[in-house]
This record gives sequence, structure tokens and C-alpha cells, in this order.
Amino acid sequence: GRSQDLAGRHIVVTAGGTREPIDPVRFIGNRSSGKQGVAIAAAAAARGARVTLIGANLEVPAPASVALVSVGTAEELASATQAAAKDADVVVMAAAVADYRPERLAAEKIKKEQQGDELPLRLVKNPDILVSLAQAKPAGQLLIGFAAETERDDAKLLELGRAKLARKGCDLLVVNRVGWDEGFAVDGNTVTVLDRHGDIVLETSGSKSSVAGRILDLLR
Ligand code: C5P
Repeated sequence: GRSQDLAGRHIVVTAGGTREPIDPVRFIGNRSSGKQGVAIAAAAAARGARVTLIGANLEVPAPASVALVSVGTAEELASATQAAAKDADVVVMAAAVADYRPERLAAEKIKKEQQGDELPLRLVKNPDILVSLAQAKPAGQLLIGFAAETERDDAKLLELGRAKLARKGCDLLVVNRVGWDEGFAVDGNTVTVLDRHGDIVLETSGSKSSVAGRILDLLR
């Protein structure tokens, strides 16, 4: 059985979606709820692991069995994750990280009366946390990335996953399809997990907690 098979391991899980501020009251965000990452954190803790959950704007409660670090932006997620990953046996990057953030943060609320009919917003690239974790990876650490894609064709989805795996340098990549009614903010999920060589090591579909269990089985 699975009982306590992760005892003695420190597992860091990031979950949720980052929010990149535009002004004191507005942000650019995404529809990630944090459900899949929180399910992985809860399942790992139930199996005996010491779990650090780094939550970005979670829409679901964090389980009491994990140590929660709450963050807002991609840059906050980067520093919290890099700190927690130093002594982690496994890092699961389930968070949806904003690829870009507004170049400037307006000090005051932007007013339409002053702004007029157009609001140009220049975005700059955020650091890629997964890539830097892979580059600084301690010996023996297992690094798991996620690829949320809207591609509908299965073969093309796998191709995207394999390219991402090579680019990111992680050990496992969890590929899932997302869209208006898939992946993000819903209760079920369908994932394909690729290993370093791009070979499929798991294909599973079900509740986010059942998918979490199957992913954690790969750590045994
Ligand atoms: O490149 P893409 O955003 O599709 O990659 C997804 C994976 O990379 C996820 O594991 C996500 O947490 C991670 N990521 C990251 N830093 C970024 C963007 C994505 O760690 N700036």
C-alpha cells in the first residue's frame, strides 16, 4: 500500500496562479485555482512527507498538514521556491506562473478620466523558475514541471511537452490540456507524464486527488 511511503522526504509543491500588479488595485492573472497542486501537497503529507506548499493566490484551502508559504507575484514565487528547494528531495512546479509582468507598477490607481481611450501596457518577461531550479539542482533531487496547453491534437500536445521538457531540463513533465472547461479550476484532470527521455511513464484521468496519487506513485 501507499501508507507512509514518502516518510522522511521533503517535498516542495508550488500551486495556484501568480498575479502581476498593474496598479494598487489591479493585476494580470490566470485561471489556475491551485486545486491540482494542493491535491498533490495533501496527498504527499498523508503519505508521510514533510511538505512545503508555496501557494500563489489559492482558491482552495491549504491542508493543515503542510507548511504554507503564501505569495502573490512570479518574483515572490521565485524567491520562496528557490529558498525552499535547497533541501528538498522533490520539487513539484504545479503553479501557473505569469510569463510577463507590467514593466511599471503605477503608484496610484489608473484613472480613465486621465488616461483617455487607450491604455498601453508594456510587459516584460518574468524569470523562468523551473529553468533556474534545474540549473541549481542538488544531487538526487527530483524536479517535476507542468505543461498546461490548449493544443487539442494529442500528438501535437505530446510534441509540445517533449520540447518543453528539453527546454526546461526537469526530470518529469506533467502534460495536461487546459481551456475554458478543462484543467484549470475544475475538479477532474487528465494528464500524461513524460520522463527525461520524453517517454510516457503515466497516463491517467480522474479527480485531482486521484491524479495526485498516481503522480506521487512515480516517486517510490
Ligand atoms: O513555459 P511554461 O509556462 O509552459 O512552463 C510551465 C512550467 O514551467 C510549469 O511547471 C511552471 O510552474 C513553470 N514556470 C516557471 N517559471 C515561469 C513560467 C513557468 O517555473 N516563469
